[in-house]
Order: sequence, then C-alpha cells, then structure tokens
Amino acid sequence: MSEETTGIMPFYDVDRTYEDNYRFGPFGAFAETLGGDAKTGVSDDQVKRALAAAPSDGDNAATPAESFFGVPVDLPFGIPAGPLLNERYTTGAFRMGFDLAVYKTVRSRAWGCNPFPNVLAVHPASADGILTPGSAECDEGVLADHEFETPISISNSFGVPSQDPDVWQPDMQRAMERAGRGQLLVPSFQGSRVDGMTPEQYVADHATTARLVLETGAKVMEMNTSCPNEGHNRLLCHAPDQVSTICEAVKNTIGDVPLIVKLAYLPSDDDLEYMVCVTAGRGLVQGFATINTISAKLVDAKGAQALPGAGRDRSGVCGAAIKPSGLDMVRRLAGLRERLGLDFGIVGVGGVTEPADYFEYRAAGADAVMSATGAMWNPDLAQRIKQAR
Ligand SMILES: Cc1cc2nc3c(=O)[nH]c(=O)nc-3n(C[C@H](O)[C@H](O)[C@H](O)COP(=O)(O)O)c2cc1C
Repeated sequence: MSEETTGIMPFYDVDRTYEDNYRFGPFGAFAETLGGDAKTGVSDDQVKRALAAAPSDGDNAATPAESFFGVPVDLPFGIPAGPLLNERYTTGAFRMGFDLAVYKTVRSRAWGCNPFPNVLAVHPASADGILTPGSAECDEGVLADHEFETPISISNSFGVPSQDPDVWQPDMQRAMERAGRGQLLVPSFQGSRVDGMTPEQYVADHATTARLVLETGAKVMEMNTSCPNEGHNRLLCHAPDQVSTICEAVKNTIGDVPLIVKLAYLPSDDDLEYMVCVTAGRGLVQGFATINTISAKLVDAKGAQALPGAGRDRSGVCGAAIKPSGLDMVRRLAGLRERLGLDFGIVGVGGVTEPADYFEYRAAGADAVMSATGAMWNPDLAQRIKQAR
C-alpha cells in the first residue's frame, strides 16, 4: 500500500480506481485544503502554512515576479497533465502553492480508462534507480509491484480517459476561476483516433477539441502528442509532419493563445530538430513540455506481465527514474533554441521530486518546471521550493 510504505497519502490514491479518484478525490493534504478531514502524512502546520501563503487578490498584492507564456506567475512550477483530474484537484494544487496546474488531458468525447490497477511502483535494476530509454532493461522487463518507496518511480497506464465535454467544459471553467493571483490553470487536450477515421478527421478532431478548450477561456493550452494513440506504443510525436499539420489546424482555431506541445523523449538530435523546425519554426507552437513517460516492459517478481490485460505488457514509467532523460531533452531543446534563433518556451518535466531538481531544470534551460509523481508523494514540494529560492 502506497501510504503504508511511504508515510504519505498521495492526493491521487493509487489504491483506488480512476473513477473513484475522480469522484471522491483529491486525498491527503490536497483534500485538507478543501476542508476535508483526510489523513494526510503532511502535518497540519504544513497545510496551514500553505493556506496562509496562498495568493489572494488583495489590493496590495505585489506583481508576481515571473511569467509563463506571458501570464504573470509567482513561481513557474506546477503539476503537469495527469494527476489533477478535475477542479477539486486543481484547486487543492493551487492552495498548496503549485502556481501552475495542468488540467488532465481532455478529449472531444467521453473515453474510458484502462482497467485497474493503473499505477504500480517501478524498480529499475541499476544502483541509482535510473531507467534509460531504449535500454535492454526496457525490453527485457523492469520489476513493478506494490512496494512504493522513495525516490519514487511508478507506472502510468491510464489510456488518457476523458469525461464528455458537457462535463469537463464547465468544470475546467470553474478550475480557472479558482486560480489565485500569480497562478494559472493550463488545460491539456489531445485528439482521439477511432476506428474508420480518416487522417483528415483525426486532424479535425484536434481542432474541435482545441475549440472546446478555448471556449472555457484558456490563456495558454497544451496539446499532448506523447501518449500511445495509433496502436501499440506508436506516439504522435514520432510523426513530426503530422504534428505540424495538426498544429496548423489547432493554431487556426485558437489564434493568439500560446500553444505548448507535450513531447515524449526523442533520442535522435536530428528528429528533435526537425520537430522544432516544423512546429515552432513555422510559428505554430510557442513552447514544448517534455518529457512524458518512458516506455518499458513491466514484470512482477516471477517475470510475468505486471499489469493485467492485452496490450499492457509495456507501460509508461515516470518519477525519479526518468529525471536524466527529462533534463537531457530540456538541454537539447535549449541548445536548439539558441542555435536556430527561435523564441519558444520550455517546460521541464520528469523526475522532479526535490527542490534541487527544480533548480537543476531551470539551469538546464527550462522556463518552467513541473512534477507529477514527485508532487503526488510530496504535496508540500512547491512550498519547499519557495522557501529555497
Ligand atoms: C497519474 C498520472 C497520469 C498522467 N496522465 C497524463 C495525461 O493525461 N496527459 C499527459 O500529457 N501526461 C500525463 N501524465 C504524464 C505526466 O504529465 C508527466 O509527463 C510524467 O509523469 C513525467 O513526470 P513525473 O516524472 O514528474 O511524473 C500522467 C502522469 C501521471 C503520474
């Protein structure tokens, strides 16, 4: 049980289904900020301090020191697409001092979740617990079980579930209204590939979803191109020309609203440069968020498939194990930005579990930093970064 082994109740409870998390969450310290009486693992004092420090719209409010794609923010740090399922989660995040909250990726239609469980603890074999993308270990099998321990690495096998727009649009709007001064709600969206769809219809589905998000009043939007959507482990971001076509359709829909593209780890420098040129280089994209998870075969202690069901022998791994890959992508993007003379933003994601990781990502060239797995087990992470800066 995650809480028993780590002493922290994550705000997304990995021992419950996605549906129960959507309905009853958040848990732990995030729930406390909403007035729940959750058992948290974070002290009452920490929650009180977070609430006292939470921004309000008072008259004497100082202008936030930093910005995120032109929007003033206090600290360009937050939680990326995924664990913040709805307005209650994003409000909990804001109140705990995460000034950027990405609303979990939405679609143009309701979409089911992969069967439970979705999150297992993952234990790469190397002494430092690092998982290298494309390594033999990723293909041969990495141990995954229920022994959650820090530094934390987990599987993330959800299949990008979504509510119907009739549900998520009003909820997203409420989520935006709950952002305090110096805070920003960033919606994430993606296209949905269904049987019989033509390539043109797939492009159009992205634009439709972008329009639905735009209607909520989004100031900045993120498009996910890094979850499997065209068959086993094929990612949209492995097809840069298609991403470029989609970005053009989306940009025609959203106009001046900055568009961030979420990328998986791309090992080849040439592929990354091509992606940057056909998106940011064409003025279609204003930033990149990276990385998503690293794909690996997950096995139990007996070597059998760890997650139940067809097509789930591999899963995305996130958390501490992927930090070097996230940093590597940020450094390479920052290098390209300079060499090509382009002006795009970089959101560093992957394995941020301690305040030092935030500063390391900034030093590598990230304009903003986000933590999913780390924040789930460290709900006071934003406050600790604010104390350290
Ligand atoms: C529970 C969970 C759900 C996620 N769902 C999404 C998602 O819907 N869309 C997306 O772009 N990324 C999703 N991600 C990936 C994260 O945004 C992030 O890229 C990845 O977890 C690496 O960051 P981390 O090491 O801090 O966890 C999810 C991650 C987690 C932990």
